[in-house]
Amino acid sequence: MTELTATEREILDAARESVPVDDESAFRAAVDSVDRDLLLQSAARYGTPQYFLDVDALRERARTFADTMKRHVPGTACCYAFKCNDLPALTGALRDEGFHADVAGLFELDLALRQGFDRILFSGPGKTGRELALAARNAERVIVNLDNLDEIDLLGSLVPPGVSVPVGFRVNTATAKGGTWWKFGFDLEELAEAIRRVDACPGLEWTGVHFHGSWNKTPEGYVAQIERIAAWLGANVPAERLRSLRFFDVGGGFYPEDQALLLQSEDRGMLLDMVGRRTSRRADAFREAGIDPYGFHVTPVRPLAEFAEAIGDAVRQHVLPLIPGATIYFEPGRYIATFSTTILLRAMAVKRHGVIVDGGINMLGDYKLAEYSFAPVVNLSRPSPALRRRVICGSLCDPADLWGYSHYGDELKKGDLVAVLHQGAYTFSGAWRFIKSVPAYVAAAAGELTVAREEETFDVRYSGCRL
Ligand SMILES: Cc1ncc(COP(=O)(O)O)c(C=O)c1O
Repeated sequence: MTELTATEREILDAARESVPVDDESAFRAAVDSVDRDLLLQSAARYGTPQYFLDVDALRERARTFADTMKRHVPGTACCYAFKCNDLPALTGALRDEGFHADVAGLFELDLALRQGFDRILFSGPGKTGRELALAARNAERVIVNLDNLDEIDLLGSLVPPGVSVPVGFRVNTATAKGGTWWKFGFDLEELAEAIRRVDACPGLEWTGVHFHGSWNKTPEGYVAQIERIAAWLGANVPAERLRSLRFFDVGGGFYPEDQALLLQSEDRGMLLDMVGRRTSRRADAFREAGIDPYGFHVTPVRPLAEFAEAIGDAVRQHVLPLIPGATIYFEPGRYIATFSTTILLRAMAVKRHGVIVDGGINMLGDYKLAEYSFAPVVNLSRPSPALRRRVICGSLCDPADLWGYSHYGDELKKGDLVAVLHQGAYTFSGAWRFIKSVPAYVAAAAGELTVAREEETFDVRYSGCRL
């Protein structure tokens, strides 16, 4: 075997931490826990394709998140990020679990108001006058997390007389993430000017700060941002002023466990690939060690309690001395919504090279399952413990319309019911109006099935168009 350098060995060891999805055991527990009878019943009653939401599982997941944070982080208040999945049956169930709302646009804000959420955080770049005016009219329920100096001027001009809108500043995490993350919020260098501008607007009251970073597999990013922002506040804002603030919002971005990606699309895999390319002997060494950068692997994620402990410590050490009694907002989306939605499809045709099912990836609004991400697919009609290689294509006229390269269960035959597990996050809310309709969303609670959203119709798709 080729001698590897210490760094190469480290990269290899990091890559080895993750389980390849070709290992039949990788998703065994998830596949075994599928409520097959209920899914068969839902498909028989409402047809395929469909989104299927297990409301009880959603609520349990939300409770786990909230309880874990409350146990370790003083002042915890959980908001659900509507952008992740804005199905009203889902957001309503989370409201009933005590979640507040985190919204990013007019429709989400309006939905949260109509659903009776009593606290709504409104964040996002490029908020329009219409959006800000609606927020200002509901200032007793909405906190606007300001994004930029121009937005301060716009919101300030829209506040009705006698109203005070609570605002926070979104601080960007550009230094941590790079790319175009600069587009979110204020640089710390701009914050003094932002505070001055808010103070000059009689209708705005500065009440807190906010940051958000996505895809955190360890708590370090949260801790670093809490330290960075608190240090700036402590050094630049009078203590008395800080004591009048009410919240510190640490955003969402909690990466769920059991997500599998192409190793090469993650940092560890990219490094491995680069090192492997230096000489083919090194690539051989990695292969011999059983690591394939072009394979799908489960991403290692630290347990949620570790996030909660680390954030709790950072809050106690850095935030509470400045803002005593601060509410600590969390805004999870993906962590809450991923697992409780299953997509149900039916095999329509069996071809030489693969199977065609009756739903397309317009349901996902993403080519991820063709390109970099894995979802466990199960043949519900012919269960068996086997994981089989078989390409499963959707029904769209698009060669990248693909649900995966393998499935659990016996060989797929025409008419078999197929379940794509863990499809609740950033799927329905981003579904494409592309060729086929956006299918119905069925919700199950305590064994009862209801249609939570009807299938998109011709009239809905072409509403407002001249025929
Ligand atoms: C401000 C804000 N909060 C919360 C979220 C939810 O993130 P996630 O679904 O990764 O938890 C996002 C997602 O982009 C966001 O921009």
